[in-house]
Amino acid sequence: MLTWDDEVKPSNSGALSNASDMAAGRPTASPSSPASFAQPALATHSFSAPAGAQPVAATTAAARRVNAADKRIINGQTDVNQLVPFKYKWAWEKYLATCANHWMPQEVNMNRDIALWKDPNGLTEDERRIVKRNLGFFVTADSLAANNIVLGTYRHITAPECRQFLLRQAFEEAIHTHAYQYIVESLGLDESEIFNAYNEVQSIRDKDEFLIPFIDAIMDPNFKTGTPETDQTLLKSLIVFACLMEGLFFYVGFTQILALGRQNKMTGAAEQYQYILRDESMHCNFGIDLINQLKLENPHLWTPEFKAEIKALFQKAVELEYRYAEDTMPRGVLGMNASMFKGYLRYIANRRATQIGLEALFPNEENPFPWMSEMIDLKKERNFFETRVIEYQSGGALSWD
Ligand SMILES: [Fe+2]
Ligand SMILES: [Fe+2]
Repeated sequence: MLTWDDEVKPSNSGALSNASDMAAGRPTASPSSPASFAQPALATHSFSAPAGAQPVAATTAAARRVNAADKRIINGQTDVNQLVPFKYKWAWEKYLATCANHWMPQEVNMNRDIALWKDPNGLTEDERRIVKRNLGFFVTADSLAANNIVLGTYRHITAPECRQFLLRQAFEEAIHTHAYQYIVESLGLDESEIFNAYNEVQSIRDKDEFLIPFIDAIMDPNFKTGTPETDQTLLKSLIVFACLMEGLFFYVGFTQILALGRQNKMTGAAEQYQYILRDESMHCNFGIDLINQLKLENPHLWTPEFKAEIKALFQKAVELEYRYAEDTMPRGVLGMNASMFKGYLRYIANRRATQIGLEALFPNEENPFPWMSEMIDLKKERNFFETRVIEYQSGGALSWD
């Protein structure tokens, strides 16, 4: 049986295990540093020497060479156009792993799903409600995720290895939005009903309203890191996004659709969700590594008050996701009921909290859906629902003969 630790694959190097990366340097930006040096020192620009370096001639090409030890997750002063020398190898390895997992929605055969959906006796009303509520949340959630990366997070991160992962992640969010749209179109659902669910269905709206302030804060064109307050705002946004959106708000929906697939229903949709779950698991783990590295470089941000604020956000997120579970499952269905999700969400919240260095919020919770852990590891159950017609290969497996 796999454990949640298996989510962290394939990287063997979380941020905390990369403490040696940090040995060469301390954060260069003092808490009172006014600027975030998100812009690179281009050849035509004068060069700003890292703190502590000997003064160098502004026009000396050698002076512009990046020293890996000077790189920082935020408020770095090194050229963000230079991917190497690597400092954050865990980010690069995760980038390679996500590329090796490439897939596209239209490669999944949806014919069985279409026939089942059109058959008046194919699914119960409760099962149809699950499918529609699921799509109602997800058709906009991944656009929200993509916009948060592209318009928010990206410009504040000064480590080019991490930016490389974020670029790939943004494309994967586009693939996910495509996948959900493709399911809606395949089943012939009312598009305006599904795409407006995040405005019109209260349990979905509440989740999005919880998230949006944290996205808006870092998307504000006037927002800059470089003070303890603004650095904490960014850190909080990263935690909400990785641990609570991708790491918690997706899990009732994923579990429900994969439970349908396990009963041989909506297997095309389930196959797509399985690929999305694999991607999201990687996004969540990258985000957690990013958070932990940022903490290592900026320990002054991790104050008791800040931790208390984060714990309260975890509590609120569990509550909102549980309400969503109740709304989507007014009765028991597929061998599950809403109260089982209370335990599951607490179990996941504990996992996310401990991953970022907080104590478990709900001690002694067990996982009521151990099969979900197996679903995350596609290498074991490749093409679980047997609907996929094309297998991508990682680069090393391709033959050019
Ligand atoms: Fe996504
Ligand atoms: Fe994601």
